[in-house]
Amino acid sequence: MAESKLKSIDDILKTPEARYATGNITPALSERMGFNPPKCKVFLSPCTTLSTDVSFTFRIDREAQKKLPDIIGNSVQRIVGVDAPDPLLQETHDKPRKLGIVFSGGPAPGGHNVIAGLFDAAQKANPETRIYGFLMGPDGIIENEAIPLTKEIIDRYRNLGGFSMIKTGRTKIDTRQKMTLSRQTCKDLGLDALVVVGGDDSNTNAAFLAQEMFADGVQVIGVPKTIDGDIQVRDDAGQVLCAMSFGFHSAARSFAGAISNLCTDGSSDVKYWHICKVMGRVASHLALEVALQTHANMAFIGEEMADYVDEARLKRAENAGSIDYTAYGMTLRHLSRVICEAIVSRAAVGKNYGVMVIPEGILEFINEIQLFIVKLNTIIADYNATHDATFHQDFPMLTDKLDYLRRQAQRARDRGGFTVWNTRDEDLFSDIPDFFKEGLLMERDSHGNFPFSQVETEKVLMDLVKDYLKILHEQGRYRIGILRDYYVKTFTNGGLDPDAYGPVLFSNWKEGEYLLMKADIISIKTLKQVLIREEAIGSSEEIPPPVQKIYKKSVPDFKIQTHFYGYDGRGSDPTYFDCVYTYNLGLTVFSLIANGATGQMAAIKNLEFDLSRWEPIGIPIAPLMHLEERQGKLSLVIERSIVDVNSVAFQAAKANRETWLAAFPGEDNYRNPGPIQLLGETEERRPITLLLNSLAR
Ligand code: FBP
Repeated sequence: MAESKLKSIDDILKTPEARYATGNITPALSERMGFNPPKCKVFLSPCTTLSTDVSFTFRIDREAQKKLPDIIGNSVQRIVGVDAPDPLLQETHDKPRKLGIVFSGGPAPGGHNVIAGLFDAAQKANPETRIYGFLMGPDGIIENEAIPLTKEIIDRYRNLGGFSMIKTGRTKIDTRQKMTLSRQTCKDLGLDALVVVGGDDSNTNAAFLAQEMFADGVQVIGVPKTIDGDIQVRDDAGQVLCAMSFGFHSAARSFAGAISNLCTDGSSDVKYWHICKVMGRVASHLALEVALQTHANMAFIGEEMADYVDEARLKRAENAGSIDYTAYGMTLRHLSRVICEAIVSRAAVGKNYGVMVIPEGILEFINEIQLFIVKLNTIIADYNATHDATFHQDFPMLTDKLDYLRRQAQRARDRGGFTVWNTRDEDLFSDIPDFFKEGLLMERDSHGNFPFSQVETEKVLMDLVKDYLKILHEQGRYRIGILRDYYVKTFTNGGLDPDAYGPVLFSNWKEGEYLLMKADIISIKTLKQVLIREEAIGSSEEIPPPVQKIYKKSVPDFKIQTHFYGYDGRGSDPTYFDCVYTYNLGLTVFSLIANGATGQMAAIKNLEFDLSRWEPIGIPIAPLMHLEERQGKLSLVIERSIVDVNSVAFQAAKANRETWLAAFPGEDNYRNPGPIQLLGETEERRPITLLLNSLAR
């Protein structure tokens, strides 16, 4: 027989199949790079203009009026398509420009398409127009680190996730020096306009830059980015101007895809509770969307907890003739009790598993922790201001930080009067586990934001849950329900009469489909005592094996797997919705610039409806600003939007809470949105939150 000649690895690697298999061009990537997002109708016209819409009004903050005089009078501007532009409009619209663009803050899927949309519109108007991408976020503006963005660069990133094209950063342009340097960079590059793609803090930056460079004629346009979904803009009358920031849908879909897989795994293996913390900072928009997408058994929405009142505690105090103020607001302990009740109720129908969604910002809505966050923010900000130093550099170790706090409490004792940190704070804080203390004391970002993503909220909560479940087990309240048929089969096969043992062992023998061990049976020892007492066995007899088997099955073992969904979703490729949304935002940015706007945020009105109803607009940033405490002092910022507990989306989730918990016999109610796909009939076209909220109008 002829010996077969083996191919060398070099030859194999040269084949088209091997080249494909070892290359980085996947079919999904090719599909994305070749996709041309559809445009809003106005962008099909050869030219656009702006029409001021004064039907949207805002309550102007006095400080904003003082600090942003040149842009505070801006109104909402609608982009209007012009099919036969007059020569002057066409000339102004199409003149060659130099534009700069920067990403600011955390990545959000779709950012590259903002650049692609801006680039395409600018090139169509005038191929001489140049766009510079500032590198590494606002630092790139301050330090004049920019690259010219060519078609070749942009084509590599169309419809792809991340901000990898020019990277991002969190620097805040918050000092005179940084402002002056930024202004100088724009002058040096000869920019006509600067585009800031960022969240609330970055759009705040954009407004100040617009004011700073107003006299230079450099226009500044913001773009609402953040996976957190907390940039949602309404006017004073509640009319929606921007229903959602970009990136939210993709991140939520990415989290939901993974969490939905956990629902499948959990209900197959039936032994774990999957605890899923999801990003979103203070607001629970992402947790709500994930709940609607997956029907996870439990999903907590921080905003709901803010209004929590412990009626039972209030009643008890009322009966005793007093008022218990601690009944208002959720505590960590109470939250852990709520979680335990749900776990116990599922266990009772044989479901000792499940999936729980916790928003990363939940701590903000938990009474005692929120107080610590506020106090520590103030202490750190005060220290930095008084010592012209950085608290975290001066006290790098946890022990140093705790010593400093201890000294504050001591000083309070020595001096008396009101102090931010006192002995009571010291005592309460010392009860917290070290890893959690460390989290609460972690360095704030340049905008003064608390680093929720770094705090192991789920761990501290689950430790409390585990402790309380142990108590509930000892009280005989935490049991795995045993399916009656299984019990009957086990006893019959084991030669025992199920009807004789049933009333001895179970508290719900008469009616239960899932049988619950009696409360006083909490160990093998107590099981034997009950069997002897009820004369099911003699005192010298062993517990029959079928009884032992059923008992063991009734003992819950609470096992958890914790997961954090955040950075993965931020880096996900954008959904169809985000691809189309962001490309059109890029086109909107160009129209605003080409028509002379500044201090405006590009947005798409009617996002919650079909593309045919989308309306590109400019929203004035300055009127959205108000004073808020940041880093220990009042600063002008854009208000973050949190979940509205009266919204249809939240109410729909609330109405389905019991169904999704599924603490009843039978199947769980999980929903699987599937993985993110760009095209195809199975791809959902908008966030469920938006879809539901649009039903109210
Ligand atoms: P932005 O607000 O900048 O869009 O960032 C959102 C976010 O992903 C939050 O959800 C999260 O808490 C935070 O960034 C994490 O910050 P960092 O990237 O600094 O770890």
